[in-house]
Amino acid sequence: MTKEKILVTSALPYANGNIHLGHLSGAYLPADIYVRYKRLKGDDIIYICGSDEHGVPITITADKEKVTPKEIIDRYHNANKNAFEKFGMSFDIYSRTSLPVHHKTSQEFFKSFYDQGLLVEKKSMQFYDEKAKMFLPDRYVEGTCPKCGNEEARSDECEKCGSLYDPSELKNPKSKITGQTPVLKETSHWFFPLGKYQQRLEKYVNEMNEKYGWKDNVLQYCKSWFIDGLKDRAVTRDLDWGVKVPLDGVQNKVLYVWFEAVLGYISATKELFQMRGEPDLWKSYWQQANTKYIAFIGKDNVVFHTIIFPAMLMAWNDNNKDKYILPQNVPANEFLNFEGKKFSKSRGWGIDVDEFLNLFPADTLRYTLAANLPENKDTDFYWKEFQGRTNGELADILGNFVNRTFTFVHKHFDGVVPERGKLEKIDIEMLELLNASPQKIADLLERYKVKDAVFEMMNLARAGNKYFNDSEPWVSLKKNKEQCATTINICLNIIFTLAEIFEPVIPFSSVKIFKMLNARPTEWLKCGAATLSSGHKLNQAEILFAKIEDKVIEDLVTKLGQTEDKPKEVPEEITIDEFKRVKLQVAKITAAENVKKSDKLLKLQIDLGSEKRQLVAGIAKSYSPDELVGKKVLVVANLKAAKLFGIESQGMILALDTSEDGKVKIIEIDESIEPGKTAK
Ligand code: MF3
Ligand code: ZN
Repeated sequence: MTKEKILVTSALPYANGNIHLGHLSGAYLPADIYVRYKRLKGDDIIYICGSDEHGVPITITADKEKVTPKEIIDRYHNANKNAFEKFGMSFDIYSRTSLPVHHKTSQEFFKSFYDQGLLVEKKSMQFYDEKAKMFLPDRYVEGTCPKCGNEEARSDECEKCGSLYDPSELKNPKSKITGQTPVLKETSHWFFPLGKYQQRLEKYVNEMNEKYGWKDNVLQYCKSWFIDGLKDRAVTRDLDWGVKVPLDGVQNKVLYVWFEAVLGYISATKELFQMRGEPDLWKSYWQQANTKYIAFIGKDNVVFHTIIFPAMLMAWNDNNKDKYILPQNVPANEFLNFEGKKFSKSRGWGIDVDEFLNLFPADTLRYTLAANLPENKDTDFYWKEFQGRTNGELADILGNFVNRTFTFVHKHFDGVVPERGKLEKIDIEMLELLNASPQKIADLLERYKVKDAVFEMMNLARAGNKYFNDSEPWVSLKKNKEQCATTINICLNIIFTLAEIFEPVIPFSSVKIFKMLNARPTEWLKCGAATLSSGHKLNQAEILFAKIEDKVIEDLVTKLGQTEDKPKEVPEEITIDEFKRVKLQVAKITAAENVKKSDKLLKLQIDLGSEKRQLVAGIAKSYSPDELVGKKVLVVANLKAAKLFGIESQGMILALDTSEDGKVKIIEIDESIEPGKTAK
């Protein structure tokens, strides 16, 4: 088989906070599993990652802590690098975007675009914080919406009423950094004409999808961007932390962090080969047409990797002799939540990777996360599930199978692989399964179906255990030693294959098993029934997985959400008369449809018994229109009518806040209650 040349990248995490389990599930663990598999397969592959060290959030954190941005990035770069290492991430390099090689690379791209006359300079008025001496990015200005009076509106858009306006129209603007009133000041920025590339980008995405099968979620994101139409995007910012705009006379401007961060993949590859003493070899990965480039990311990064980065590479390729390859696939994952809610450090919800790995071995976490990856929808990490997978699968199935086989071979065959004799039906069937397993798993991994691949891996261990049970070697030991030897020989070959196919998921345990087997991994597709020959001497067994006690898990669950400085919530009190002014009534939903241009809102028609009304409810993230029709709900019937997205809403549905990702559960009323009934 021909060997592939492959370049793999995982999104560069911001050096502004700790990596959590959600990050691992999104862009890191699946990539690491894929890369480890490819290495075992014998492909020529490099795996690139590093810290994203620019951008406003880093300067804000630095200001808050009264330290320099450099201190922040050093702290988190090192913390994340170590946490990744402890977790078993096998990057070829974990670089950082603050390095000179990166600044130079991104400036070259900017210069090339500038020299081609591609970048458009535009002047605009922007909020400037005179105390902080900086222009304020949109999300650092808050004020009152000129249209609806919402007091938490952003500088040029209101999330509540959906209107867009000029920053000069925002009332009462406040800088989120200093709390001061910012002034409007003229500034100019360079814009990348993304729209010019729309046709080529659509063609690129379609072609890649046809040839390599892109994930549905990724295609959906691309589609909605294309439908909206690609617009010019500013690629510079007024800041002093970042990659300087490489033009004479331009000061206090840096490249927009996303413009340069994606180029960080290239800079990191250059650094890798500089360190390896082959400074030009990076080109064979980035600029050789037969290299396959796979970019692993989380869903919030899709547009940058399927649209913006490819457009930048196209723009470069149009005007330079050396041509870059574009991502062949971008297998983005959805999000992982923690026990039903979003991870939140300030609320003590979740656990740091480092802290986790002080309590439990990396492989147990890798396995649990891999078995439950958010490949097609958001998933959750539950402590109970973690315990279940560790005890019930890793220990009871895989660990137990390895352990009982080793105990047996040391006790009855002197720790040497016994010779296979005549094969019975049960042996032949087991060998067939064993031989087919590596290919089956490879097929899944080639299509980034990591979760399914992990399921197949454990299935082989399951089959091994069953084979051991059904073959009853403790019986044949006395009645027919040749048959017993056959069973044990086959079991040991299963163990070899398990050690190999499980390596991408639980690499630390795989090393242990290979040590016990006194063997090394072979090429992926060559493992199977005939890898350990008779007469091969084995080493002593060690315990692979320790079980986790209930108490340990219970304590962790209790600790959740308890942070030392959590302020107590004191609800504001109202009088009974005030409450009585709220008219709650039962309503039946008779029709529902999505509100155009909003992913949060649904337009509903309701029946209140004596009258019919229309409402706009922010529940589109939690319900599809179809599932709502016919349901009976509680509504606030005397709420002043309001317009949302230009649509009149006469009332409000009551729903429960179930988590922090915007999901809610409507309060459903029993079938038997008639619309119009009031609640007291
Ligand atoms: N730092 C970004 C994040 O954590 C990801 C950057 S990916 C890169 O969301 F391509 F820009 F590097
Ligand atoms: Zn508004």
